[in-house]
Amino acid sequence: MAPNVLCLPGNVSAFRVTLALLLLLSLLLHPISAGHDYHDALRKSILFFEGQRSGKLPPDQRLKWRRDSALHDGYTAGVDLTGGYYDAGDNIKFGFPMAFTTTLLAWSVIDFGRTMGPELKNTVRAVKWGTDYLLKATAVPDVVFVQVGDPYSDHNCWERPEDMDTSRAVYKIDKNHPGSDVAGETAAALAAASIVFRSRDPAYSRLLLNRAVRVFEFADRHRGAYSASLRSAVCPFYCDVNGFQDELLWGAAWLHKASRRRVYREYIVRNEVVLRAGDTINEFGWDNKHAGINVLISKEVLMGKADYFQSFKQNADEFICSILPGLSHPQVQYSPGGLIFKPGGSNMQHVTSLSFLLLAYSNYLSHANKVVPCVQTSASPVFLKQLAKRQVDYILGDNPLMMSYMVGYGARYPQRIHHRGSSLPSVQVHPAHIGCKAGSRYFLSPNPNPNLLVGAVVGGPNSSDAFPDSRPFFQESEPTTYINAPLVGLLAYFSAHY
Ligand SMILES: *[C@@H]1O[C@H](CO)[C@@H](O)[C@H](O)[C@H]1NC(C)=O
Repeated sequence: MAPNVLCLPGNVSAFRVTLALLLLLSLLLHPISAGHDYHDALRKSILFFEGQRSGKLPPDQRLKWRRDSALHDGYTAGVDLTGGYYDAGDNIKFGFPMAFTTTLLAWSVIDFGRTMGPELKNTVRAVKWGTDYLLKATAVPDVVFVQVGDPYSDHNCWERPEDMDTSRAVYKIDKNHPGSDVAGETAAALAAASIVFRSRDPAYSRLLLNRAVRVFEFADRHRGAYSASLRSAVCPFYCDVNGFQDELLWGAAWLHKASRRRVYREYIVRNEVVLRAGDTINEFGWDNKHAGINVLISKEVLMGKADYFQSFKQNADEFICSILPGLSHPQVQYSPGGLIFKPGGSNMQHVTSLSFLLLAYSNYLSHANKVVPCVQTSASPVFLKQLAKRQVDYILGDNPLMMSYMVGYGARYPQRIHHRGSSLPSVQVHPAHIGCKAGSRYFLSPNPNPNLLVGAVVGGPNSSDAFPDSRPFFQESEPTTYINAPLVGLLAYFSAHY
């Protein structure tokens, strides 16, 4: 996976503003769908998660070229840490992005599950694959196992997960080595998932909620960033760059939504300033939750039920204004072809997560009959939906290269994704072990990957809409679970409304 790189604010130039205005104009003049099969894309976007599964695969596993892997994870620490998801094209289980992925999958079900049709059960299963693992990782009170696998040992090899013989070192946080970031996100994931299972499996839902409460308490009582004690294992991969304060508010926001307990509402109101809810950084991802916190909490304000959260709504409005194209302070770039672009690699994670927030907020606004007041204009819910849809359509093929960035969707899509399992021959085709360095020739081969990781969305084109389709260009060609998780919600909505 790509190392975390701090994003710098883009340069404001008259030229770019003109481009953005042109884009805005073309958006308004051509709101008509290009006729994408959103349901097909939805089905594939969820199937992708089966390809990222670690541990013992169930009999109904649909992605057939994968096999069981990492069946002894946790063994050296005396715990069972099998299961969960590999984050991207490697074989490490990074707990921080895995928890964020699970939270966003759960949010997708909560807001858009109604329109998932037959894919709802597969999405719920994808949530459970994450939470079953997070329950194992939090089984011991005041401890969270946050990672399995030494990333340097893993990244030094090009091996199928089924062949893995690299170090499966286990990393944890505890009272003396706090990690409010990863623990706060884990609490958020467990709480969000408890809503998903509330009526489907009440006992499991209660287990998730109770665990979320306990993990949040640990996160809040023992404050710190996990990269302080685990720097060499988590940096530069999933280093906590922007601080742990946002995950505490985020965890409390999901616990509030899941439990309706007064204590979380009070926590949020009391800590809003000290935990910097107003940092409306125009980013939303595994490291930075600010925009998500404000959008999530604003729903209650817009439902007219929570005046004490009014400032979160103002923050959410400011966030939305800051990512619109064509305004005079564009803090988010748009490529000439119309794609949201933020520097730092794996750009599609920003595209899908920001689009998810646009769509979710648009729905909350619609119900309240509200628009977003920006400085020079105001943005209607319909406009926010069109903006989100434009991003999804770009991913599916409406772009200068006329290619889909989702593997297996459309006529042209990435052939050489940076993904070990996809690029090496499958166990069925090649049962013999392929060692660490023996995989290199597959990595360097110009041939397409032999195994389709159906539904995987890659990091995507650069800021000029160019895409190399080459394994070594991992920032462009690597898929990640947190690119797909918000996309599931987006596709569910558009499959039912277009
Ligand atoms: C994007 O990639 C293309 C092709 O590799 C290259 O020519 C172009 O300069 C790149 N653009 C940027 C802004 O890096």
